[in-house]
Amino acid sequence: MNPANNRKNEHVSLAMNFFQESSKSDFDALHYVHHSFPQMSVEEVNLSTSFASFRLDFPFYINAMTGGSDWTKKINKKLATVAHETGIAMSTGSVSAALKDPSVKDSFTIIREVNPAGLVFANLGTGQTVENAKKAVDLLKADALQIHINAPQELIMPEGDRDFSNWLEQLSAITAALDVPIIAKEVGFGMSRETIESILATGVKTIDISGKGGTNFAQIENYRRKTNKIDYLENWGQSSVISLLEAQEFLTTADILASGGIRHPLDIVKALSLGAKAVGISSLILNMMIKDGVDETISQINDWKENLKSIMTLVGKKTVSDLQQTDFILTGEVKDWCLARGID
Ligand code: FNR
Repeated sequence: MNPANNRKNEHVSLAMNFFQESSKSDFDALHYVHHSFPQMSVEEVNLSTSFASFRLDFPFYINAMTGGSDWTKKINKKLATVAHETGIAMSTGSVSAALKDPSVKDSFTIIREVNPAGLVFANLGTGQTVENAKKAVDLLKADALQIHINAPQELIMPEGDRDFSNWLEQLSAITAALDVPIIAKEVGFGMSRETIESILATGVKTIDISGKGGTNFAQIENYRRKTNKIDYLENWGQSSVISLLEAQEFLTTADILASGGIRHPLDIVKALSLGAKAVGISSLILNMMIKDGVDETISQINDWKENLKSIMTLVGKKTVSDLQQTDFILTGEVKDWCLARGID
């Protein structure tokens, strides 16, 4: 097998091996103040949201994962079925494998076949050309293109990139040339306000801060290294909660999305309270689908929609944008971070 395609299989199996549903999370440092009178009914909750040029019926989606091999084609087919049946948006994994090796194209295009009218985002790395970015969008008839930013992963990956000198220029060029929205995303290392500022200067308006706390690509790539492990880098980055706090000053000028370490609907609501327009979920859905199958995953996701309405009622908010006005306090290291970085 082509080594790049084998890497795609390894990423999925290692993400599953390392997956820990109940691990400690910075989301636990955000505590809502309980008020006893919601003064509204669950029926009044509207889960719809919008970002870039899209309106979504539900404020969460399947975030970038895979494609590029026979096994990952099967996974993408199942994920696309879940997206289709539940009406949530979905991103593919990086399409670069198909641009290098056209024989694996169908492991990505299967997503469009299964879900012809759904909201689908293609995905590519920052170091790519404008031409490849256009090809990635055309391949999937994608509604948007996610450009992933993943310096720690590349550096720990033995075969990864080592030259990051023009990533921002490449992001600008792709953004200027494409006629679909660009979503700049991290891959689980989070973002700082300086990073967000640099991304906005390239013309990108939609940013997924994808923070630490869930899938850990420093750990995954270290495991793939045969020698010279760099395991002391496995705690690198900002959590999703801290990244969202870093993003506060951009909430009116950019569409901020959140992902990284989402465990359940309460984490989704917390991310929305911190200003995310929508929340991406990768390993939780992948794990559920591999362990419990497609039907159970569809049923679980439909339950989440109801759970979201319950939690929004508990905090007395009828819409996703109203969630930005909840009462909560932050504790522990998250609070320390805010103090140190001057975040109110
Ligand atoms: C990913 N992720 C990812 N991101 C990206 O932009 N392009 C990609 O090709 C991949 N590939 C990939 C494979 C697998 C198996 C997983 C689990 C994840 C990263 C993903 O989109 C997300 O940013 C992180 O996984 C954090 O979210 P979770 O997994 O903690 O919900």
